[in-house]
Amino acid sequence: MDDLRQKYLDAIAGAGDEAALEDIRLQAVGKKGEVSLKMRELGKMTPEERQTAGPALNALKDEINSALAAKKTALADAALDERLKSEWLDVTLPARDRRQGTIHPVSQVWEEVTAIFADMGFAVAEGPQIETDWYNFDALNIPGHHPARAEMDTFYMARAEGDDRPPHVLRTHTSPVQIRHMEANGAPCRIIAPGRVYRADYDQTHTPMFHQVEGLAIDKDLSMAQLKWVLEEFFSAYFGTSVKTRFRASHFPFTEPSAEVDIQCSWENGSVKVGEGDDWLEVLGSGMVHPKVLRAGGIDPDEWQGFAFGMGIDRIAMLKYGIPDLRAFFDSDLRWLRHYGFSALSVPTLHGGL
Ligand code: DAH
Repeated sequence: MDDLRQKYLDAIAGAGDEAALEDIRLQAVGKKGEVSLKMRELGKMTPEERQTAGPALNALKDEINSALAAKKTALADAALDERLKSEWLDVTLPARDRRQGTIHPVSQVWEEVTAIFADMGFAVAEGPQIETDWYNFDALNIPGHHPARAEMDTFYMARAEGDDRPPHVLRTHTSPVQIRHMEANGAPCRIIAPGRVYRADYDQTHTPMFHQVEGLAIDKDLSMAQLKWVLEEFFSAYFGTSVKTRFRASHFPFTEPSAEVDIQCSWENGSVKVGEGDDWLEVLGSGMVHPKVLRAGGIDPDEWQGFAFGMGIDRIAMLKYGIPDLRAFFDSDLRWLRHYGFSALSVPTLHGGL
């Protein structure tokens, strides 16, 4: 019995893998294994012999079985260790770079403009990009025969044949938001309306879609003086330096009197600097809101008066950030966007200011 015991415990200890271990199990305690055969011999023994041999054989069988189980676990652990050596994952590797997007200059300037006017008490108003021709033209004192309609290179929405309602247009300017805001909120008011506008025009300095910001302030006693102060305040904050403005008499159907506004600048070998020098650069149209426009918005022109202005967002973005080509704004060229774009963290907010 001791020989058997030693023989199998040694064999188990020396087994190299699970298959070898299974062979040993069959040889020892399988149906025809050595220990099992010995147990069968118990029947031929005398009862006295059986009394010592029986428990001893059972104990031997148990001992071999637990040695087998322990070895089996040890083999599995060793196999796992071996696998882990070749299949490990180094979680300490630095993460791969992720491309970070940038904020488009138009979005950046849109927020800058909004933050500056918000500081002066202007709220933001919005209107649809598809307008009726009434809001885009008639209500702004541009009747059907007016040359301004022809000049605007308007995109007209298609109408089904036989449908002779007046056409919808892609708004050619942000001025219709003036009417919508007056209708909905009455007077007094102080708003800007930044947004997309459309004209069928495409060359070096024009794209069929571009951006404007409209301004409208209505109260009892507003004048061109306040208009001028607001605009100079705006340009100085926007360009970060004191900027003079020059008002030139002009004509717009929706303002009377009307002025085109230039800002002070210098030209140095092909590039402009705003806020210095004695050249002038035209940046916006403005004036006192025409009585007919107030009336179209449901406001009594005998009681209220106000000023309005409209300027190109893309244009003032080019001026501030030295971007030479307007068309590149809308090319979606990633190299351009990475070069001229802004970090998301440097965008001004309404509450954070510039
Ligand atoms: N709507 C004009 C345009 O697109 C710009 C403009 C001029 C807006 C004078 C105004 C204004 O509010 O008073 O070209």
